[in-house]
Amino acid sequence: MDSNFDVIIVGSGPGGYVCAIRSAQLGFKTACVETRKTLGGTCLNIGCIPSKSLLNSSEMYHKARHEFNNLGIEANNIKLNLSKMMSNKNKSVLTLTKGIEFLFKKNKVTHLKGKGSILSKDTVGVTDVSGKQTKYKAKKIVISTGSTHTSLPGIKIDEKNIVSSTGAISFEKVPKNLIVIGGGYIGLELSSVWKRLGSNVTVIEFLDHIIPGMDKDISIEFQKILNKQGINFKLNSKVTAVNVVKGKAVVDFTNNKSAKRERIECDKVLVAVGRKANIGKDISKLGIKLDKKQKIQVNEKFETSIKNIYAIGDVIDKGPMLAHKAEDEGIAAAEIIAGQAGHVNYEVIPSVIYTSPEVAMVGKTEVQLKKENIEYSVGKFPFLANSRAKVNNETEGFVKIIADKKTDKVLGVSIIGRVAGTMIAEAAIAMEFGASAEDIARTCHAHPTHGEAVKEAALAVDKRPIHF
Ligand code: NAI
Repeated sequence: MDSNFDVIIVGSGPGGYVCAIRSAQLGFKTACVETRKTLGGTCLNIGCIPSKSLLNSSEMYHKARHEFNNLGIEANNIKLNLSKMMSNKNKSVLTLTKGIEFLFKKNKVTHLKGKGSILSKDTVGVTDVSGKQTKYKAKKIVISTGSTHTSLPGIKIDEKNIVSSTGAISFEKVPKNLIVIGGGYIGLELSSVWKRLGSNVTVIEFLDHIIPGMDKDISIEFQKILNKQGINFKLNSKVTAVNVVKGKAVVDFTNNKSAKRERIECDKVLVAVGRKANIGKDISKLGIKLDKKQKIQVNEKFETSIKNIYAIGDVIDKGPMLAHKAEDEGIAAAEIIAGQAGHVNYEVIPSVIYTSPEVAMVGKTEVQLKKENIEYSVGKFPFLANSRAKVNNETEGFVKIIADKKTDKVLGVSIIGRVAGTMIAEAAIAMEFGASAEDIARTCHAHPTHGEAVKEAALAVDKRPIHF
């Protein structure tokens, strides 16, 4: 095989594989190095995709047991076959990772199998399973090595009793009692999965609210709904120790306000307190500049402190750790390398929590706007008044639009509702085009759809909703 490339991308997650395909489309001789057996990184192998499969299957199971009867569908003797549910998840993962292999072949991207290390500004070493290292030359190198779970001081993840998300998407048995440390994206999605499948779930969160960074109204409503679903919360609580005693995990935590100490025993503990960038020894050795959080510093062209070496995705100091952000950066970096005007608008990156109901937001929250001294108007519309949501018995949640008080330009949209993750795309497009709330309000929305709630929330910004 020729060992000279125009672009070598290290890591094949959503950032890396998309960057590789775009580079090849632009006419570069491209290679992508991956150490895992399958392509797709955390997202496809142990993150977004397998968790969404379990969220979907567990929701079906829950509905079949608790909701079908009300709809006149009589299904008796509904039973869980967890190993079959896991096999279905694994099949979905395999199909999608194979799909990237196909896309690489189609676009003539060379897949270099093994652990990649950047040896210099134009050389990448790839070490295969036998330990043999092969060197490849590249005019440009893109680091896309992603992130990995973190833990708390003194708490060791063993992936048996004390697990990360990787362990929590592969339990062989439904844990009777599950403690989840961290009320963020991972914690709440996986709490939902195991609660629906029969676990008693308690979420321990350090702050006084869940999903920090999201809109406060949404956070309050979301917690109420999850509480109703039977998930317990211990807020304002700091976990001080987790020990495994005779096959059970014992979690100690202290209330931040009252200093009251508590201890809960459980079968499994999921630690979901954030992720850290994957900075290999090669990156440190080369002296690529990192920020305080140990992420790679890049400029607006995704260039690191070393010429010809670029970085994208979870490993960089820009934007949230989200798959779609990494994908957009992958495309932008490839286009910039080709001398085009690649760009990512960090003001308009949607984020979604795939629970039931879903939670989604794009743009700014009231808290952020207050900090920035920007005056705004708010329009809210509940799904209770949306006909489609009503006929589907999906009336929980609302749409909230925040617009500039003077110009009416949409500054942020938050949605909690059955299909919030799909609905948020409309808000992102509107914001990308600089729409006002009035623009959304005057756009014809199909009836009956959940999307009409977005139009009504836009009307509510000007205090003239029709159906509420
Ligand atoms: P996160 O940052 O979303 O949430 C971590 C939570 O843990 C926070 O609420 C934080 O206050 C809490 N916490 C921190 N230290 C704690 C302590 N000592 N005791 C109790 N609570 C503590 O992190 P998470 O859920 O681990 O997700 C990691 C990354 O993966 C995020 O950046 C997220 O964007 C991404 N992700 C995105 C998904 C999606 O798009 N649906 C799904 C899963 C992950």
